[in-house]
This record gives sequence, C-alpha cells and structure tokens, in this order.
Amino acid sequence: MSYLAGEDMRGGYGAADILRGCAIAVDRGEIAVIVGPNGAGKSTAMRALFGMLRLRRGRVLLDGRDIGRLTPRERVRAGMAFVPQTDNVFTTMTVQENLEMGAFLRRDDISESMEEIFGLFPVLREKRRQQAGTLSGGQRQQAAIGRALMTRPSVLMLDEPTAGVSPIVMDELFDRLLEIRRMGIAILMVEQNARRALAIADRGFVLVNGGNRFTDTGHALLANPEVGRAFLGG
Ligand SMILES: Nc1ncnc2c1ncn2[C@@H]1O[C@H](COP(=O)(O)OP(=O)(O)O)[C@@H](O)[C@H]1O
Ligand SMILES: [Mg+2]
Repeated sequence: MSYLAGEDMRGGYGAADILRGCAIAVDRGEIAVIVGPNGAGKSTAMRALFGMLRLRRGRVLLDGRDIGRLTPRERVRAGMAFVPQTDNVFTTMTVQENLEMGAFLRRDDISESMEEIFGLFPVLREKRRQQAGTLSGGQRQQAAIGRALMTRPSVLMLDEPTAGVSPIVMDELFDRLLEIRRMGIAILMVEQNARRALAIADRGFVLVNGGNRFTDTGHALLANPEVGRAFLGG
C-alpha cells in the first residue's frame, strides 16, 4: 500500500470526465513523476489528489485512510503540501513572509523549519527581505517549495516545478528534490522535462487522455522504446 494513492480517479470540471480512471501513487522516500502530453489531465489529477476537484468515482488514500471528503486545508493538516503550476508565491510579500505564510496552520516555533529551508535553499536566506516578485524563475520555485515545506509535509506535490528555468537551474532543483526525498518525504511531481525527471523517478506515470498509458519505474519507462518514441521525443 502506497503512502498516497489515487485509485480509479474519474471526474472533471463539468459533464465530461477529464480523468478517466487514472491511478497515481507515491511512497515516503520516493519520487514519483507524472508525464504526458498537454491537456492529458496531469494538473487535474494533482488537483483531485489535493481535494480541489471532486471525483465522480475512485478513491484517494493517505496512509491507508480514505481522505476523499477532506478539504484541501484538511489535507494540509493531514500532511499534504501542493505547489501549483502558477501563482505559487505571494509576489508583493517578502521571501520570509512567504515562508511564514506557509506555516499558517502551525502554532509551534517555526524557526527551526525556516533554518532547514535556508539550508536547503541558501539563496532564500540571502533574499529573505526581498519581495518574492523580484526573484528569478528558479528562485521563485525555490521559495514556493520552501513555503510548502513549512507545513512539514509527509507528501510534497509539485506541478511543473522547473517550468521556464534553465537546464542548470533545473539540475540544481532536482538535486534539492533528491535531498528532500532523503528526509523521508514523498514527492509527486508533474514534469515537462520528462527524460530528466524520469531519471530521478522511483515511479513514473505516462498519462494520456486521463488514463495511465504506462506505469513503471522511471528507468523502465526510459528504457521502453515505445515510451521513448511517443512521449520522450525519440
Ligand atoms: N478549470 C478548468 N475548467 C474547465 N476545463 C479545464 C480546467 N482546467 C483544465 N481543463 C481542461 O482539462 C483538460 C486537462 O487539463 P490539465 O489537467 O490542465 O492538463 P495537463 O496538466 O496535463 O496539461 C484540458 O482539456 C483542459 O482544457
Ligand atoms: Mg498542467
């Protein structure tokens, strides 16, 4: 049994289903990656797992418990954190204020978490008094991930965390994700940079038309010629 699992997820935004029975799962200490063409339903699957979309059918389990009725806020309390694809920082607030906002559900001392995040992303310490809107794309993603980590999640969900960043910045970000994995956190992310992401993925899901076209380890998907031809550009 996986730590976070969406089973047979079906549903969408209106009458027609966008998710057509897809299944996504990740364990603690693992990185799971969802790839697939534009419009396949990757972001929709993330929203469904986080409780931003009501499923018509299927289940979402966290640590074996059916959390299908929980609101996103309740899911945060249960250990989930989600960094959406866009608008994932408060641009007019400072980096430090963004991190503090991330801890909104906590009543305990957050200084240790803040230090941990500054250790992981040193540039955030340097720029802690700057407005998040002044950061570069890569720095902004670090701030968004840092903010998500402030809730001390057991599952970190990221929707295209490397969108619009240079290859070097992407490599750095992936290195940080490997560190976060080592902390025992489950990481589930959607990625356009499919090859690079699958290379660090314990599990991979190729989503097409709201369903799993391929589900395997990252390495097996990379080695699969059919996956390579159709989804990884040859
Ligand atoms: N808020 C929304 N309302 C209606 N349709 C949406 C909404 N968001 C996405 N869709 C549609 O759902 C489908 C899947 O979108 P999405 O999950 O964003 O795909 P992906 O992240 O894989 O590119 C697309 O056809 C998209 O147009
Ligand atoms: Mg998307």
